[in-house]
Amino acid sequence: MRIDILTVLPQLLESPFSASIMQRAKDKGCVSIYIHNIRDYSTDKHKNVDDYQYGGGAGMVLSIEPIASLIGKLKSERDYDDVIYMTPDGKVLDQADCNSLSLKKNIMILCGHYKGVDERIRKHFITREISIGSYVLSGGELAAAVLTDALVRLIPGVLNNETSALTDSFQDNLLSPPVYTRPPEFNGWKVPEILLSGNLPAIEKWREEEALKRTRERRPDLLD
Ligand code: ADE
Repeated sequence: MRIDILTVLPQLLESPFSASIMQRAKDKGCVSIYIHNIRDYSTDKHKNVDDYQYGGGAGMVLSIEPIASLIGKLKSERDYDDVIYMTPDGKVLDQADCNSLSLKKNIMILCGHYKGVDERIRKHFITREISIGSYVLSGGELAAAVLTDALVRLIPGVLNNETSALTDSFQDNLLSPPVYTRPPEFNGWKVPEILLSGNLPAIEKWREEEALKRTRERRPDLLD
């Protein structure tokens, strides 16, 4: 999979993809991530990428020219399955979206900034708008990093133990059950007896029950 991220603040995206599972995914050749600085495509003599909004009002708007030029260049080089815009008014991301996006070949992710991007970009280039939650970030970069992380770990071959993504919270619309590791007792706080029993069918049943209980308590909406 190839992911191209378009941003005015590339420095915000340096570290999230350089450690742990993301770095491993890149090393294994499962994903290539390219960060593009929109400013490099500005033809303005001061390399400006934003401007005042028509009609007045506070806040700058990212201009259409540099973004259109960058998107046009990338599209001339390969086909994209989706051109995604990260925005708080997009569809709120869930695990089903991540599952389907993880199967794509090439995706582009545009990060918004300031008041957002010129609406004509959204109308003519963007195929999908995604929010990572009902709150406003300073820009789309951290949201793009969240989206990228959530889908890269689902690409087949990225995780060592293939089943571990399948047992993630949300994969079956259930939260994950509690987990424990050694020691079996700390401060008098014991690991549930069943997990030490070696009885695998009973352990599996306990996990299912705990997952259901946790989902009912914390996210009953997932059970609807
Ligand atoms: N940009 C600013 N806030 C955002 C959010 N909640 N989701 C996606 N992109 C954003």
